[in-house]
Amino acid sequence: MNLDQQFALPRGLGGTLVGALMARRHGPQIRACVADLAPAAGEHVLEIGFGPGLSLGVLAGAAPDLLVAGVDPSELMLASARRRTRRLGSGIHERIELCQGTADDLPWPDATFDGVCATNSVQLWRPLDVSLTEVRRVLRPGGRLALSVLQQAVLHDGGSAGPDYDGVLLPALKEAGFTEVQADWRPARESRALHVRAVSPQSA
Ligand SMILES: C[S@@+](CC[C@H](N)C(=O)[O-])C[C@H]1O[C@@H](n2cnc3c(N)ncnc32)[C@H](O)[C@@H]1O
Repeated sequence: MNLDQQFALPRGLGGTLVGALMARRHGPQIRACVADLAPAAGEHVLEIGFGPGLSLGVLAGAAPDLLVAGVDPSELMLASARRRTRRLGSGIHERIELCQGTADDLPWPDATFDGVCATNSVQLWRPLDVSLTEVRRVLRPGGRLALSVLQQAVLHDGGSAGPDYDGVLLPALKEAGFTEVQADWRPARESRALHVRAVSPQSA
């Protein structure tokens, strides 16, 4: 497996290396995505594809008394995120629940979350339509979704999301029933990142 593909499912020594790179490089993009989600005090929010787990601490600190959940298929990233969130200390660490899994099969009941966010992982969700329907299922009616994807974010086949990824993601969100879908490209890491906001419909 080449290093690029490690970003899609980090494992082994190469995975440890890309995990460290992501934690070092993705902070500004993660903070922007969490700001787009705008969690309110006491809400229950989910991060999908948390990688090394930087986003979990950002989320947990975004408003008082947030409950944060995270899911990622990589055993290595799960272990790394657990170590990172433990270092956040008591009071925060206890509000974060992590598990192994993928976006197409989320282990939570319907309408569990007020908000869902994901940075550089939606381009890896397979199948995308099933995964978005699953995200809609776990969001309460009116719940918010915030996504961000670097133009160079890797795909499972080794390609990248590319400059026209909004043309893939926005129709898929609308097809899955999301409303108020808004998107913009912002400068990020000598490139740019697509930022998307959407809302789960009030009625099924
Ligand atoms: C490029 S990393 C991004 C990590 C982190 N969100 C960031 O921006 O630094 C992609 C992450 O998505 C996870 N991933 C891959 N396929 C996934 C899927 N189908 N559902 C959820 N997460 C997935 C990978 O294990 C990896 O940790």
